[in-house]
Amino acid sequence: MKGMPFDLFVVLLTIIPLHFASLETLPSMSSTKCHEQERSALLEFKQSFFDAESSVCLLYGHRHKLESWKLEDRDCCDWEGVDCDEGMGYMIGLDLSKSYLFGSINSKASLFRLAHLQSLNLAWNNFNISQIPSAIGDLVELMSLNLSSSNFKGEIPSQVLKLTNLTSLDLSNNFGLELRNPSMETLVQFLTKLEHLDLHLLNVSAPVPDAVANLSSLTSLVLRNCNLRGTLPTTIFELPRLQLLDLSGNPKLSGHLPEFHLGSPIKSLSLRWTNFSGNIPSSIGNLTQLTMLDFRHNKLSGEIPSSLGKLVRLSYLNLGMNLLFGEIPASLTNLTNLTSLDFHDNQLIGQIPAEITSLTWLVYLDLSFNRLTGPIPENISNLKSLDYLNLQSNNLNGTLRLDVILKLQHLNGLQLSSNEFSSIIEPGMNTSLSNLSSLGLASSNLSELPIFLSYQSRLQWLDLSQNRIYGPTPPWFLNVSTSQLQFLNLSRNLITSFTAFKWLNLGTLDLQFNDIQGLIPIPPKSITSYLVSNNKLSGEISLEMCQLSSIGILDLSKNKLSGVIPPCLSNLSDSLSVLNLNGNDLYGRFPQLQNDVCKLKMIDVSDNQLQGLLPRGLANCSTLEFLNIENNQIVDTFPSWMGLLSYLKVLILRSNRFHGAIGEPEAHDQFPNLQIVDLSMNNFSGSLPSEYFDMWSAMKVHDAVDTYYDVGYKSSYIAFRQVGVEYDYSMTITNKGILMKYERILVYLNMIDLSSNNFTGEIPNSVGSLTKLHMLNLSNNALTSSIPLSLANLTKLESLDLSSNKLLGMIPPTLAQLNFLAFFNVSDNHLAGPIPQVNQFRTFENDSYGGNLGLCGVPLTKKCGNPVEAPPAPPSGAFAEEIDWKIILMGFGSGLVIGVVMGLNTTSKIERWFLRFYRGWQQRQMHHIKFV
Ligand SMILES: *[C@@H]1O[C@H](CO)[C@@H](O)[C@H](O)[C@H]1NC(C)=O
Ligand SMILES: *[C@@H]1O[C@H](CO)[C@@H](O)[C@H](O)[C@H]1NC(C)=O
Ligand SMILES: *[C@@H]1O[C@H](CO)[C@@H](O)[C@H](O)[C@H]1NC(C)=O
Ligand SMILES: *[C@@H]1O[C@H](CO)[C@@H](O)[C@H](O)[C@H]1NC(C)=O
Ligand SMILES: *[C@@H]1O[C@H](CO)[C@@H](O)[C@H](O)[C@H]1NC(C)=O
Ligand SMILES: *[C@@H]1O[C@H](CO)[C@@H](O)[C@H](O)[C@H]1NC(C)=O
Repeated sequence: MKGMPFDLFVVLLTIIPLHFASLETLPSMSSTKCHEQERSALLEFKQSFFDAESSVCLLYGHRHKLESWKLEDRDCCDWEGVDCDEGMGYMIGLDLSKSYLFGSINSKASLFRLAHLQSLNLAWNNFNISQIPSAIGDLVELMSLNLSSSNFKGEIPSQVLKLTNLTSLDLSNNFGLELRNPSMETLVQFLTKLEHLDLHLLNVSAPVPDAVANLSSLTSLVLRNCNLRGTLPTTIFELPRLQLLDLSGNPKLSGHLPEFHLGSPIKSLSLRWTNFSGNIPSSIGNLTQLTMLDFRHNKLSGEIPSSLGKLVRLSYLNLGMNLLFGEIPASLTNLTNLTSLDFHDNQLIGQIPAEITSLTWLVYLDLSFNRLTGPIPENISNLKSLDYLNLQSNNLNGTLRLDVILKLQHLNGLQLSSNEFSSIIEPGMNTSLSNLSSLGLASSNLSELPIFLSYQSRLQWLDLSQNRIYGPTPPWFLNVSTSQLQFLNLSRNLITSFTAFKWLNLGTLDLQFNDIQGLIPIPPKSITSYLVSNNKLSGEISLEMCQLSSIGILDLSKNKLSGVIPPCLSNLSDSLSVLNLNGNDLYGRFPQLQNDVCKLKMIDVSDNQLQGLLPRGLANCSTLEFLNIENNQIVDTFPSWMGLLSYLKVLILRSNRFHGAIGEPEAHDQFPNLQIVDLSMNNFSGSLPSEYFDMWSAMKVHDAVDTYYDVGYKSSYIAFRQVGVEYDYSMTITNKGILMKYERILVYLNMIDLSSNNFTGEIPNSVGSLTKLHMLNLSNNALTSSIPLSLANLTKLESLDLSSNKLLGMIPPTLAQLNFLAFFNVSDNHLAGPIPQVNQFRTFENDSYGGNLGLCGVPLTKKCGNPVEAPPAPPSGAFAEEIDWKIILMGFGSGLVIGVVMGLNTTSKIERWFLRFYRGWQQRQMHHIKFV
């Protein structure tokens, strides 16, 4: 489209807003290069975003580009952001990035009349979740289009496919923008001249198409956080011009690394947090142009190839969070330009190569969470630029030379926790030390607080947990970084007292598992997380605790606190999320929680002597997830009024004096998120809560995704999470006939324990709708009638206890379909007929069936009279170990065993086996709170 026909020109003019169409704006045909119709299109565009007045105002104190666009200024080619071609004077480039454009945009925008544009940049504006206008396809001469970070949403219009001359396309960072129709495949089939393609944060939800490998001009491809799936075609690594490839943040994108060829121009390669597996090929050494290599958070295995040492231009190398093993290759010493080296969280062995200390540009070094042994190389003090050193959780041994390490003047963060150092040499008093902002020396065999800390004035984060630091805290320690310290972890030591706090900005104080005696030390007002569980604190909870107005987590559990819970503690309910008072000697009433605002998510007052009713104010705690009042003396009826707490997941009322019938729900959709409910050892009566069973929808399968074995590692426990803190909820519950302490609760665990009450009547069929249930305990009630066939629907059930009731009839043979059943008890009922003889039922012993005079068949000695009712026992008897342990393993292998066995009174084979199995888990369950 060269010149424009005159009549079209006139038509264009007539749609210009009136006050622009004044005489002075009529085309003058003067010597300016600027074409009048383009000039007016720009002015119209400006006017659509800024009215006359605001256009001269400074927006947010910033000058914006469009200010230079003035009605009276004729030569629009000189306007800021505008580029005209030299010959015809048409506008070929428009850069409106960061122009404070705010408002929606559509195909009528005058911008799309600039038909000669070859380059259009609208990045960093806010188009207020507009769709990308389809008129974009009219700008067919475009070679470069940048719409990033401008709040576009919805589908990309198919008209984009007309822009076949595009060499650069950036649609990134528009949250909610989708590439489905057209698909990425269609896009790359049309736009074959692309050199730069940046789609990061665009929702693609599809595999990377093979056709990308046909984009032979491509030099940079950024598909970060695009929700890519499938397997990456390895031909993409062979694109002849590709210099930058960023596929990071696509955890569902799998693939293998190909053989790399010499001569590849690739400079920057990031596959961070994708799902790549297999080895790193030694041909990676052919990528000699690489300056940046990021394979963090994949499933790469095998050894780190020593050919990495050929990549002498590398400045950033990250292989962290993989499954790499073997030694760190000494060839890395060749990478003299390296500034950042991260191999953390692999399975590396051997020593830290002394050669690493020749990488004198290193700023960041992280080798944590490996199995490295031996000493820290003494020449570490050569790494003069080092800012961050993390060697925690290895098996480093020998003497820890803090005197050497702390010579590093630029060192800010030092993490050495959880190694095997036999002793520590602290720096001398008069030397000049690094001024650290974070230090981790947890689990380092310290028997006292290191004195060099008294010279640290900038510490914000200090972890000295799991040492043997003994006795009262010395006065000098209270003066360490008084204005800076925000995080202090001294848990799991032998500290006996802790008094006045001088830290002005302390947010987290963890003193759990010490020997602290006397009254609760009152933390500073700034405190947000205060954890003093498992000490020997006594006396009453001081009223001063009610002044901690920023507190979010308060854990005073497992002490010897007595007296009543101060009612003023309920004033904290507008900041407090976690309140744990478990295991003290508190008595009296539960605070009333009468505040309108209640942010509590977790309340544990179990194992005290609280009396009276449950406070009705709990109904205001609309985000409550966990309530445990086990083992108190609460006298109340079933709290149906909590049914509206739609986040409530865990409700434990075990061992109190609740009474009466549970009755029918007052509304539908009560307790929709409940997944663990323990009402055992109370005096509930009447029939089982059949209507509630219908409503507890969290215990029913409602999505196809079976999270059972597929839960992400981090979010797989029910916990309170906040930036930097994760507080796992814990509970004690009877499972598989064993009282177990769960230090953490898996998110998918579903349990019902209504045992030891006075429930009467039948087991309702509706219990069979709770198909996600892992544990059902109805023992020790007065239930009658027969075992409902619907129980066979509970295919995830691992533990079923119906013992000590008055049940009649047969054990339904279909229960043998319950492949995960590891514990089954129907003893002390009035059951009769043959015991099923297949699958899990081959593993249950006498105790499962005793006290039912009518039952017959293995393992009972009573033979079934009628051969039709009694299928033959398996040839090798009921306990052919080789087969049966496999079956049992199915029942225990699901992760339900994540718990600590409290008491074990039975002697059954299963439970003995279980104990052995369980010990493997025990180590992992140490930490109740985690700082991430
Ligand atoms: C695309 O670019 C080519 C070569 O630069 C040019 O000849 C052609 O006119 C362009 N196509 C369009 C639609 O502008
Ligand atoms: C790439 O590297 C491998 C292993 O280092 C080598 O055997 C191969 O010849 C190299 N390939 C090319 C094309 O240079
Ligand atoms: C190392 O970095 C410096 C400065 O950035 C650069 O001049 C030099 O070429 C790099 N060396 C290699 C081998 O790439
Ligand atoms: C280290 O670099 C030297 C010289 O550049 C080279 O000869 C040697 O092969 C490299 N070592 C490794 C292991 O790549
Ligand atoms: C460190 O551990 C290694 C391997 O366990 C052992 O061989 C070595 O003797 C230990 N060194 C010291 C100083 O304890
Ligand atoms: C259990 O309930 C029945 C009938 O509801 C009642 O007769 C009996 O006394 C109750 N037993 C106990 C121990 O409360």
